[in-house]
Amino acid sequence: MQTFQIDSAQPKADLYAELATQLRALIEGESDFIANLANTAALLYHSLPALNWVGFYLWKQDELVVGPFQGKPACVRIALGKGVCGTAAQRRSTVIVPDVHRFPGHIACDSASNSEIVVPLLAGNDLLGVLDLDSPQFGRFDQQDAEGLQALVEVLVGRTMERAVTARG
Ligand code: SME
Repeated sequence: MQTFQIDSAQPKADLYAELATQLRALIEGESDFIANLANTAALLYHSLPALNWVGFYLWKQDELVVGPFQGKPACVRIALGKGVCGTAAQRRSTVIVPDVHRFPGHIACDSASNSEIVVPLLAGNDLLGVLDLDSPQFGRFDQQDAEGLQALVEVLVGRTMERAVTARG
């Protein structure tokens, strides 16, 4: 197992580029989706500054169910269209919330959270789930975070799909 060391204070674009490289190395050779989600959550939680929760909600039988994460225990099930996670899942696009207290229907799992970003996990048109990051800082997430996280999600989903196809073939 490699040791991961990331300079969290570097410019965001550099930080996300380095995280993409590390994520590729981390999931290389592993086909188990949940294992890869778990290591991704840990990598992000320990590399990105000012977070109090990072994790995945997985799309199961028409609702989101909590998956691998780092942080305090979270609400388990979220309906499509509910909260920030359900909104991102319904829109199939990234949602950035600078102040969660002003987001109608925000689901508060950790009272420390003040801002949030949710990125959907899509395989073609299929919704697999969402990646959710919470911060105690207001306005913690911007377009650079959205692009960086979307690139990481593409690495994760791309790898999983490639493996699934290889396994089937
Ligand atoms: N705040 C989210 C719920 C999940 S937690 O933040 C871990 C939402 O409104 O969907």
